[in-house]
Amino acid sequence: MNNNLQVWLNGELVARRDATVPILSHGFSRGSAIFDVLGVHPGPNGPMAFRLDDHLKRFTNSAAFLEMELRYTTGEIIEAVKATVKANDIGRGIIKILAFWSEEVITELVLNSRLDVAVFAIPESEELVLDKKHTISACLAKWRKLHPETVPVGAKACANYLNGYLARKDAVSRGFDIGILLGTDGFLAEGSIESVFIVKEGVLMTPPLGRVLSSITRRSVLEAAPEFGLTTVEKPITADELLSADEIFVVHTGTKIEAVARFEDRELTAPGPITTRVMQLMDDIMQFRDERFMKWFHPL
Ligand SMILES: Cc1ncc(COP(=O)(O)O)c(C=O)c1O
Repeated sequence: MNNNLQVWLNGELVARRDATVPILSHGFSRGSAIFDVLGVHPGPNGPMAFRLDDHLKRFTNSAAFLEMELRYTTGEIIEAVKATVKANDIGRGIIKILAFWSEEVITELVLNSRLDVAVFAIPESEELVLDKKHTISACLAKWRKLHPETVPVGAKACANYLNGYLARKDAVSRGFDIGILLGTDGFLAEGSIESVFIVKEGVLMTPPLGRVLSSITRRSVLEAAPEFGLTTVEKPITADELLSADEIFVVHTGTKIEAVARFEDRELTAPGPITTRVMQLMDDIMQFRDERFMKWFHPL
């Protein structure tokens, strides 16, 4: 990763090597940190953030789900994002915002202090590969998605990602790119870090919220696709429906839309006709070619 990054940490820009926490910090040793990630796109008059308000709403909701309080208001975090993007001269890239308790603890679990905040602005690189079009292989992970009565799955909490890590590890060890998790109810949930759509008889389907993260890309596809004449449905999806889908694609802020070319031992057309249309409409939106969606961009 780029060593010259300037990181916004609690109100100051510091060098990346200085943006650290102690090993005994609550965030690290108890895994209590939360985060959010959003895209930055080079607009005609400078960098634009994609759905900044929605990402910050989800970020503050993540804190609220965990009954934690941030040290900074949404307005202050917007200023921090602007300052970080400027300091790092970002064109295309991503913003990663984290909140955590940097206080050291040995046995304590519940702290009353407010969360520290760090903002990273990371430019596109070979490691990120934000705009490359490629197809992927996927399998059903042996792990189930965390049950929403055990932890709030709507919180983008770092500790929840052990679940995603295990699913990805399982998939990679079996020769697939990603693992897709079913919920403990046996219905499709999501990928480790991506939401899943299937296409059946021309209809775009995705699981409802409640057991999955409220992905901003998922929401954008659900809001934009009908404007382009596509039918979308949010409904519980069985493993059989997933296994017999005409098309499967996954979505994520960084990678946007990735078509699944192999699911378990089945080859699929990838990208299929509907997936191709979704990719095209998202490309048009992200490259400011569609006036209707300019409201999703926030100048930085
Ligand atoms: C568990 C999970 N689901 C879905 C997504 C996609 O969310 P978004 O579109 O907001 O990137 C992510 C993103 O990191 C994720 O971690």
